[in-house]
Amino acid sequence: MEARRCRTVESFTGKLAVVTGGGSGMGRELVRQLAAQGCSVATCDINEPSVQETAELALADAAPGVQVSSHACDVSDEAQVLVFRDALLEAHASDHVDLVFSNAGIGGAGSFVKDDREDWERTFAVDWWGVYYCARAFLPLLIASGDGVLVNTSSVNGFWATLGPGMPNNAYSTAKFAVKGFSEALIEDLRSNAPQVRVAVVMPGHVGTDIVANSMRARGLPDPEHMSDAQVQELIPADAQAKLISAGLLAEGASADDLRKMLARLAADFRDKAPLTAADAATVILDGVRSGAWRILVGQDAQILDAAVRAKPEAAYDYAELGRMARPDE
Ligand SMILES: NC(=O)c1ccc[n+]([C@@H]2O[C@H](COP(=O)([O-])OP(=O)(O)OC[C@H]3O[C@@H](n4cnc5c(N)ncnc54)[C@H](O)[C@@H]3O)[C@@H](O)[C@H]2O)c1
Repeated sequence: MEARRCRTVESFTGKLAVVTGGGSGMGRELVRQLAAQGCSVATCDINEPSVQETAELALADAAPGVQVSSHACDVSDEAQVLVFRDALLEAHASDHVDLVFSNAGIGGAGSFVKDDREDWERTFAVDWWGVYYCARAFLPLLIASGDGVLVNTSSVNGFWATLGPGMPNNAYSTAKFAVKGFSEALIEDLRSNAPQVRVAVVMPGHVGTDIVANSMRARGLPDPEHMSDAQVQELIPADAQAKLISAGLLAEGASADDLRKMLARLAADFRDKAPLTAADAATVILDGVRSGAWRILVGQDAQILDAAVRAKPEAAYDYAELGRMARPDE
């Protein structure tokens, strides 16, 4: 039986979209592609210069009549989300919004056991409370649109709570599971109580962005090359260094300078060696929204992992078996 599809979006032209975390990565590309397709956009970021640059880039290729406004806002602070909402309604002289992309996110606090409570709660606050506060702030405006779509970004870590052997991903996965659960719970809620709005949940696999570097920045750290010896040692403590050495990723007796270089390389590789670019990911997301899908998997890696985890949930954390299921022909 074919899955029940929600209303499609014929076109983004003439609509008003909100994009959080528009200063970089998928958020920036969503803003650019929406503007190019005739959609006005209000975008926010905790990093104001980066989101201003996004607005300039988007306006340079925007369809005629499109307005793009940029705003400084920390989505983990409800008061700032409400200021952002009021400012964008004024900037766009609007009493509603048509699309909300809750995209802002950071990584961090992989271990509940070992990492600082403050880091855990920061990651959870941005990735979960940010989505929640935006839903609270914008749902009435999506209802007022008469044809609204709320698009919440979760992750493959919204259905698989690890990054692999020796790489727990606790705070991020907890938040992304919450985003997925909340979004799925909204499906029937909206159908019953606000049928003029629908929800979609986005689950990207590995997408080439600066999220590694931006997440370090969110912890108040400078770029790796400018970190002090104490900062790199705290970020990569002795036991983590030992694991990196045994995995062949770090030389025996590595200096603080070697650690700085390795961190910079990890952040750059995450961006440059990904199977999908941020621009291609944004296209997949917008195609998914247009088609009326409620679950938008981004990337072949996400599709394979999703199929494997759903086929045999008990094997999700048995990496050898999960690998065999993901690559049945090998
Ligand atoms: N890149 C990936 O492989 C990947 C995979 C799965 C899910 N995701 C999710 O996709 C979304 C976009 O990530 P990306 O990879 O494009 O990252 P990115 O770092 O390139 O972009 C995220 C943006 O969010 C902003 N931001 C961070 N904290 C914020 C806050 N408190 N308030 C407002 N803005 C804030 C950052 O400054 C940055 O500009 C995130 O929710 C992320 O968790 C990314």
